[in-house]
Formats: sequence, structure tokens, C-alpha cells
Amino acid sequence: MTTKTILSALFVAISLNSFAQSPDLVLKRGNEKEILSRMTLEEKVSLVIGGGNTVFTGYGNSQKYVPGSAGNTVPVPRLGIPATVLADGPAGLRISPLRQGTDKTYYCTGFPVGTAIASSWDTDLVREVGSAIGSEVREYGVDVLLAPGLNLMRDPLCGRNFEYYSEDPLLSGKMAAAYVSGVQSNGVGTSVKHFAVNNQETNRKDVDVRISERALREVYLRGFEIAVKESKPWTVMSAYNMINGQQCMESRDLLTTILRDEWGFEGIVMCDWASPGWRDSAKEIWAGNDLLTPGSEPQYQEVIKAVNDGKLSLKDLDDCVYRILRYITWTPRYKGLQYSDNPPLEKNALTARQIAAECQVLLKNEGGTLPLQGGNRKVALFGISSYDFIAGGTGSGNVNKAYVVNLLDGLEGAGLEVDAPLKEMYIEKRDASLALMQSSALGRGSLQDFLPDAEYIEGSSDRADMAIITIGRNCGEGADRHVWNDFNLTTAESNMIRMVSSAFHGKGKKVIVILNISGVVETASWKENADAILLSWLPGQEGGNSVADILTGKVNPSGRLPMTFPADYFDTPTYDNFPYDYTGPLAMGNYPKIPRPERKNVHFVNYDEGIYVGYRHFDTRGTRVSYPFGYGLSYTTFSYGSPKVSKSSDGKYSLSVEVTNTGSVPGKEVVQAYYSLSSSSVDRPVRQLVCFGKTPLLSPGEKTTVRMSFTERDLSYFDEGTHSWILEKGSYQICIGSNSRNILETATIEEKNSKTLEKVNAVLLEK
Ligand code: BGC
Repeated sequence: MTTKTILSALFVAISLNSFAQSPDLVLKRGNEKEILSRMTLEEKVSLVIGGGNTVFTGYGNSQKYVPGSAGNTVPVPRLGIPATVLADGPAGLRISPLRQGTDKTYYCTGFPVGTAIASSWDTDLVREVGSAIGSEVREYGVDVLLAPGLNLMRDPLCGRNFEYYSEDPLLSGKMAAAYVSGVQSNGVGTSVKHFAVNNQETNRKDVDVRISERALREVYLRGFEIAVKESKPWTVMSAYNMINGQQCMESRDLLTTILRDEWGFEGIVMCDWASPGWRDSAKEIWAGNDLLTPGSEPQYQEVIKAVNDGKLSLKDLDDCVYRILRYITWTPRYKGLQYSDNPPLEKNALTARQIAAECQVLLKNEGGTLPLQGGNRKVALFGISSYDFIAGGTGSGNVNKAYVVNLLDGLEGAGLEVDAPLKEMYIEKRDASLALMQSSALGRGSLQDFLPDAEYIEGSSDRADMAIITIGRNCGEGADRHVWNDFNLTTAESNMIRMVSSAFHGKGKKVIVILNISGVVETASWKENADAILLSWLPGQEGGNSVADILTGKVNPSGRLPMTFPADYFDTPTYDNFPYDYTGPLAMGNYPKIPRPERKNVHFVNYDEGIYVGYRHFDTRGTRVSYPFGYGLSYTTFSYGSPKVSKSSDGKYSLSVEVTNTGSVPGKEVVQAYYSLSSSSVDRPVRQLVCFGKTPLLSPGEKTTVRMSFTERDLSYFDEGTHSWILEKGSYQICIGSNSRNILETATIEEKNSKTLEKVNAVLLEK
């Protein structure tokens, strides 16, 4: 008997068996195996193929179950298996706000984007964001939020960096874990994405990332490993790109060996949204990619045929089906939970405002420019984004929110007076630009800024007490950013900062720049012209209010940079291996593919910088930067006591440090601990983040002890020769700093012997 005949016979037996089942056999937690044994091949395959359309119609526009969701799993009513609904995040839930046949609206809260919440360095706060978002997921009848986005910020120009957290894997992993546990505390799921090494949008579906095993393990997989182990996400989304020649969604090494066997992941893997014919569906199932999303009839046929032809074993299919059944039993739809379609939007808007204020980073504050003092109430408000504040990014990460509070509205709401002639001119220009701009369910870009006529600059410098200039940037899925007129300011923007500063400074008045940006921009060339610079990122729908809360001193800024601000883009370790100058076709969807011959940074990208990403590079090489990793100012000052570090018998280190508010207003401090091992026998960055914590709000003179912990793994390096994590012997310096370049206190740990902590599988190796 051939394998094919055996499989066919088995299939008939299973089918017959299922017809003979008792009609009341329905899916229950614990009976997944029995259900599996009663399913027909067709039913099994229907479960691993999402319930998308026959023809791919784009991202996140499913009309089934919850309009505007991204997809769903298919029900099998005969066995009590419901559909489950998947919808995008991460800055909030993304569904359609309007539905046919009703006036009711279905808006969701636009929270600060991923980069912003990571700037809080506050895992409790991020858990709170997750919990608020999760309440909307649950109340709108969605089962899984397709978030958080956890790819590392390898290069400042990746178009989706705003969805991601940091250039540091530990900070990324901890933020993701907090977000997942917050969302999942509502009894709904998350999808940690995009697994893995999805660090550019250019040719995102075809690009082959060529990377060393050490960089992969220490830098790019580490955040995912932390999130998976610490927060148990229900699902993981496999990325579009390839790693060392293996397509992520078809990589058994990645999805089974690493994710499940090594890290113990128990949820399901779904692929990133792919249309039929683009990937080998049977290979995806074989790899352990349980759910093919959005799913299509041709993929269904492909998998049925693959099983019948013996190309895909029933065992591999069954493994995926079993995991999907188990996942379904966790979902609200399976549990029959009623949802209200009325999430607590007002409460969440308040949360979004408070959280956005906690996420902002004060980059400069010369002579105590901020907070604004009592008499200074009249503002000349420059920059078109002040009047069209950017709340979130574009693409699947866009949230359909009911409103956005502009900076104009925020300032006026806080009792400040905005110079009227300037305001009228800007509003007119804004409205004209908006009329020309198409916006869609996937959001829209920022408005092009311009240099106001000299009379407006001069006139307002006579009338107003100060100038506030907003620089806006937006970006999103499907394209990377560019160096010129994007990372670097446009000529109009640079001239605006220069001319406004000269006019206002000439009259002894201050100039404040607000960075309402989706990613890092160049600041070195113009920062001298500003008295204060506040980085508000894309702060969500309450952005204008949150910025006003910081400017007026209602909230003391406590955000810190989760990445370095380089002085020049060409100082980054990655620019030569990143498509910063690419202007060819985008190929955001699946077709047409970007034509070959193979082009460096488009069809393949060499991660030549290895583990030297972000501050690991800048700090080790001593490169000049505009603002270092971890940087951020406060309206108050803090002092640190001597750090105390100890190790328990289970190999865990405890670190505590006393922090005192030595200034005159209440504030919160981020405590950052880095480790260095100068005597290392291997090449290591000069210092690496090992743990961090944040104080509660401390009144002037008040002190607190911040307690943190880390593990031997956090100090270890990955050895490619033995494929293992090694804790090297030596004197480890645990350095407490206000940023990666300003170390204030140090403690030492002695490790007497080197030891292997864990040996892993030799997979996904460079060819
Ligand atoms: C994006 C994912 C998203 C999915 C569903 C894809 O294009 O890469 O992040 O979750 O679409 O909308």
C-alpha cells in the first residue's frame, strides 16, 4: 500500500467515524483530541485556512462578524466550533467605525503608538494601556488583537518603527510582555508580531535577511523570547520576510524548533496576511504555521490536495488543528460571552490622555523654559501639524478614532491664547490641504509644511510671548522612510525654525519645538535654535491635551528615549545595508514582485553590523550622537544612592537603588541599569541594558527604593561554536545611569566560573 492509499483509507475511516458520532459531541476544553478524531479532512482544513475571501481584497476589511476586522477562523457548527475574530492593533483596536443600516458608530480609542508607550519605560503603564485596549476588543466582539508589534528598530527609517518599541531587545520584550498581559487580562488574545526579523518594509514579502546566529539569538529573537515566556500570548504572527533563505511562515526551524520546542509556546501561529498562490500552503502547515490568514478557497484546495497526494502528513495537519481547537476554547466567542458594542470610550479617552503625557520625552529645556510660567500665555503657533496633530501611523496600525485633539485645541483648552492672524492663516492652509488629501480606513500621511511669510513671523513675534513650532511626520506599513525631507528636515521646516528663532530670540522670547513624529528625525543641526524641545511622538487621539499638560506643568515629563537619536543618519551602523535610497516599486501586496536581478537591500539584506544595533554600536564606537539611548529630562532632579546587588541560589540577581527627588516639583524617574564586562573573552558592546524600573511620583525631598531583577541569561552571550548561551566568568559592572552615556553609580558582580546556561538547536544558520 502506498502512503497515499493508506492516507485515503484513513480519511474514509475518519469520515465514516464522524458520521457515526453522537450528535451532542461538541468542543470542550480537554476534549480537543476526541473532536479532532471525529473531524473530516475537509473540516480540518477549513480550520487551518482563515475565512477570508476567494479574491484577496486588501488588509483588514473583512465584513464578516465584525466589520473592518482583519479576518476570522472558520466555524464548524456540527462540532460546536465557533468562528473567532481577529482584528488589528497595536495603538488601539482597528475596526470600521460605520456600518450599513445603522447610525450607531463603532469608534475605538486611539492610544499613543508603540514607540510612545515604550518611551514611558513603565511596564505598569503599558499593562494599563493593554488592559484598556483589551476592554474594547472584548466589548466589540473581537477575540484576538493583532498586536503588539515587537520588531527591533534596527534602522531609524523602517516605516513601521512607530508600531515597535525600541532598538533594545530587553526593553522591547518587557514592553511587549506587559502589553500582552494587559490585553489578555480581558479574556481576549493577542498576536505577537512579526516573527521575526521584519525590520524593513521595502520588499517586505520577499527580502532575505542574512544574519549571524549570534545577532539572531541575542538581538532579534530575544524580545520575542521574553514576551512569549513571560506573558504567554495566545498567538504569534509569522513575518513575511525570509531569514537566511527560509521564509518565516514556512520555517519549521523558527515556528516549531525555536518557538515551541525551545520556548514552550502553546498558542497558535498565524501567518502575516498573504494572498493565495504566494506561499506553499502545505509547507506552512508542516512548519507549524497553524492558521493561514486571511485564507482563501485556493489555499483550502491546495492543502486538501497536499494531504491526498501525501505531500503533507495528516500528523502535521492534525498538530495544527489540535492547537487551533485548543486556542478556540480560550476565546470569548467559544465561551458565548455577550458583548455590548459599547466599550468604555470616555474612560479610555481619559486613560489615553494620561498615558500620552507619561510617554513624552523632554529633550531640551534651556533655562527652565518649561513649564510655561504664569505670565506667558500668548503663543505664536507654527507648523501645520499644530493644527492637524498626528495621532497615529498609517496602514494596519491605524485606529479609526472618533476625533483627534490638535495642539491648537489642547493649548486653548489649557487657557493659552493662540495668536489669531497666524492661526487663521494656518487653518485656511490646513483645510485646503485636507480637501486635496484622500484619507482611508488605513489613515493618511502628514500635511506638507511650508515657510510662513516673514510678516507672520515678525508680526507674531511682536504680539506673542513665545513661539511653539510643531514638526510633524507620519509613516506606515508598506514603505520605509527616506533620509532627505523626512529624517532630515525639509528646507521649509529648517528655515521656519531658523527664522522664528531669530525673530523671537531677537525680542528675548522663547521658542519651543514639539516633535509630533512617527520615528527618529535629525535634530543635531537645528537644536541650538530651540530653547525647549518636547518629543511627543504620535500620542493618540488626546495628543494636544497631553502636550498641553506637559507644557503647562500639569504633568512632569518622565519619558526616556527607547532608541538613539543619531547626529547624522549616515552614522547609523545599518545605513549601508538598508534601502534608505530606494525609490522603486513598493510591492506592499503580493504582486507584482519587485523585478530581479537581485538587488542588495531589496531582495536580500546583510546584517553586517551583527549585534551592534543602536546604542550597542554608537556607545561602543564612541560615535557622536544627538541624544543617547535612555535620554530624557524632567522638571525636577534626582539623586541615586549606591546600588545593591545580590544573587539568590536560583541564579536570579536582585538589584535595588534608592532614588531621591532633589528638585522642587513632584516627578518620576526611570532607573536604567546597564552591564559591562571589560575582561570579556568575546566581542561585546561596551554596555547593555540589563534591567530597568520606574519610581512612583515622588514629591520634592521624597525617596524610594527601586527594586529590579535580572537573570544569568541577561548577562550571557550566545556562542555560535557550541550554539549555547554562556555565562562568562569575570567582574560584571552593573551601571546605573540616567541614559546609556551618563553612568552615575556602579555595583560589581563576581562570577567565578564560566558556565553553559543552555544549549539550543543549530537552526536558521547563515548559508
Ligand atoms: C500586516 C499585519 C496586520 C495584517 C492584518 C498585514 O499586512 O503586516 O501587521 O496584522 O496585515 O491587517
